[in-house]
Amino acid sequence: MSVLIKGGRIITAADDYVGDIFIEGETVSLIGRSLDVRAEKVIDASGRYVIPGCIDPHTHMEMPFGGTVSCDDFTSGTISAAFGGTTTIVDFCLQQAGQTLPEALETWHEKIERAKPVIDVGFHLAVTDLQEKGTLEDLAKAPEEGVTSYKLFMAYKGAIMVDDETLFKVMQVASETGALVMVHAEHGDSIDVLVKQALAEGKTEPKWHAATRPPITEGEATNRAVQLAHLAGAPLYVVHVSCKEAIDPIARAREADWRAWGETCTQYLFIDESYLDRPGFEGAKYVYTPPPRPKENQEHLWHALSTGVLSVISTDHCPFRFDGQKTLGKDDFSKIPNGGPGVEDRLMMIHNFGVREGRISLNRMVELLSTAPARFFGLYPRKGTIAVGSDADLVVFDPNRKKTISAETHHSNIDYNLYEGTEVTGVPETVLLRGQVLVENGELVAIPGAGRFVRRARFGEELPGAAGERPIQVG
Ligand code: URP
Ligand code: ZN
Ligand code: ZN
Ligand code: ZN
Repeated sequence: MSVLIKGGRIITAADDYVGDIFIEGETVSLIGRSLDVRAEKVIDASGRYVIPGCIDPHTHMEMPFGGTVSCDDFTSGTISAAFGGTTTIVDFCLQQAGQTLPEALETWHEKIERAKPVIDVGFHLAVTDLQEKGTLEDLAKAPEEGVTSYKLFMAYKGAIMVDDETLFKVMQVASETGALVMVHAEHGDSIDVLVKQALAEGKTEPKWHAATRPPITEGEATNRAVQLAHLAGAPLYVVHVSCKEAIDPIARAREADWRAWGETCTQYLFIDESYLDRPGFEGAKYVYTPPPRPKENQEHLWHALSTGVLSVISTDHCPFRFDGQKTLGKDDFSKIPNGGPGVEDRLMMIHNFGVREGRISLNRMVELLSTAPARFFGLYPRKGTIAVGSDADLVVFDPNRKKTISAETHHSNIDYNLYEGTEVTGVPETVLLRGQVLVENGELVAIPGAGRFVRRARFGEELPGAAGERPIQVG
């Protein structure tokens, strides 16, 4: 199959020009101002942007958590992602109690074999136990399977939290194997005390979720992780940075040229702690961790994104339905499953409120949503850019089309949307994965199983094009 995308405004992290893109098979084979080629399919992209497929390095599909399972599997979750212009996710393979690390990876491989994702999928390995079944030897082998990042939770005590000994040992292994260490940074012990005290005082409503995990708990753990990773000699990536207290230690690390970086997620840029106060248990929709923060943090986050202190925007898509899942915590906020949706909304929200409102450039948007995730997670330059030899993962984006974001029209299984009723200008129109059209004019045309498991390169190494060659870089 050959496809010609004609006359679009091609935008990468570095470039911005009008041209044609010719795709043969799964990769881009020619880029030029006006290509004289015959293609089986021609897509008119005039008046549209053409950007590299977005990469979401932080999702939790079909994840057992908080006594239930997140409500998107790799079918619904990847269809939702595709509609939002995301063509690759890197999902957290979570080691369950009693599982070895290879068993955990096998469980996640079975999920994608069963669910037949429509976009490409990679895995991080989330280590929860190195005492019973998890071993450092198995951990060291994961990168050979293309799983080149380890994740640790410094919170969720009594469930998936690890202690500092485990955290540090994993960092040491990473420094040997070339894996990237990812941390959920919160001080789990103090949070556990604060939660128990609040409940003992009869404080059960959703708003206590935020009150019992204040910003300083995130700041403390972020700083601890930065220091320990530096000591171990491992590269570090702090997930879902939500507040100034956590931005500051990352800013210091960036300033000192330490190998520590951070991401934030769409929701922290738009939703503040007042949402947790919504009446009628509505607040439970915004119970994710870290919690929504006081509003002034949003400007700190935008500033950190525009100055390079934060490097990526992910979604932390971890959907739990309001009906039947969030309601598990009707009488006890600590039993509300933690997580929110958003895999479909990121590009539209960041384009509308980031680019259109002048906070970041179009190039920076592409960098934050595609190129930087590709580089951090060993997918570049096969993915994360538009270049000869790279995967033809492309989004034709109409910057003028208007849309109202709503649970009525999104494609996730979840029954609410964090951004319900938000009007945006700029919508992904046609989405391609390795040359196959997934979404065309707002309709799903993807074949189930269009997506594949991606074996990622080690941190700092490149993933060549599918044919084995290094894609030719523009810019
Ligand atoms: O509340 C959240 N974020 N749930 C998913 C697990 C995590 O901490 O990322
Ligand atoms: Zn987390
Ligand atoms: Zn998460
Ligand atoms: Zn250039």
